Amino acid sequence: MIERLNAQINQLILDKEYPFHPRFRIEKKELLDIAFSNYKIRSIAELGCVWGIDCSYGIYALEKFKLQNVKMVDTHWTETALDRVSKYPEIEVFKGDFSDSGMVKNIGQIDAVLLFDVLLHQVAPDWTRVLEMYAQYTDYFIIFNQDWIKSNITTRLLDLGREEYFTNVPHNPNEPPYNTLFDHLYEKHPIHNKIWRDVHHVWQWGIVSDDLISLMKKLGFRLEYFFNHGELSYLTSFEEHSYIFKKIK
Ligand SMILES: C[S@@+](CC[C@H](N)C(=O)[O-])C[C@H]1O[C@@H](n2cnc3c(N)ncnc32)[C@H](O)[C@@H]1O
Repeated sequence: MIERLNAQINQLILDKEYPFHPRFRIEKKELLDIAFSNYKIRSIAELGCVWGIDCSYGIYALEKFKLQNVKMVDTHWTETALDRVSKYPEIEVFKGDFSDSGMVKNIGQIDAVLLFDVLLHQVAPDWTRVLEMYAQYTDYFIIFNQDWIKSNITTRLLDLGREEYFTNVPHNPNEPPYNTLFDHLYEKHPIHNKIWRDVHHVWQWGIVSDDLISLMKKLGFRLEYFFNHGELSYLTSFEEHSYIFKKIK
């Protein structure tokens, strides 16, 4: 209770100090502050930067830490996001799927990759392959993820079945696209070259934190920083975690 109150007070202070966006989260700001003040990171790729936040995290980091190059990637760009980033010559816009191998090559070498609230959405290729693809192009991964705490097995949420799925994910079964999701799981999505079961607009994975850390170790990265922000009131099967991984050279 006291923790929640503190978080709300911090959020109010944050809104006053950093009026970037009403949904700008202090937990993510703190992660960015720690990453950019402790490590020599001048270029980044922010993967999945638009929905509900219009590129605010990358812009915050760019302005505060004077980054040289920020590559912003998303499939669903908004006018607001495009307008905001157009004011910064350091920002390059990439429209498309960041898990596409062509896109990874196009983005090229960067100091750090930012993945905020996106890892659990990646299916085809899945989140492990996405991390593997970017591992050769970067020295740091800065990750904020909702990690699964309901079991110690990384779980494909749709495999839980409709009822269990909606018991665990923070979405109403009546809201689009969730309202029809289970009706056409194996049909091709009209925009993406994937079946509905594999698209990134919906909650896909319950990733266990230990699995993420051990994968990063296999990929040659050391966990430099970890913070457990705990559960959210509306999300009790997950905990929010911040991570910084650094390549071992
Ligand atoms: C849940 S929002 C998170 C937004 C922001 N990173 C944040 O922390 O608030 C996920 C965003 O990532 C984008 N996204 C997810 N997977 C993607 C992919 N494979 N390729 C491109 N964009 C993706 C979505 O379109 C959406 O804009």
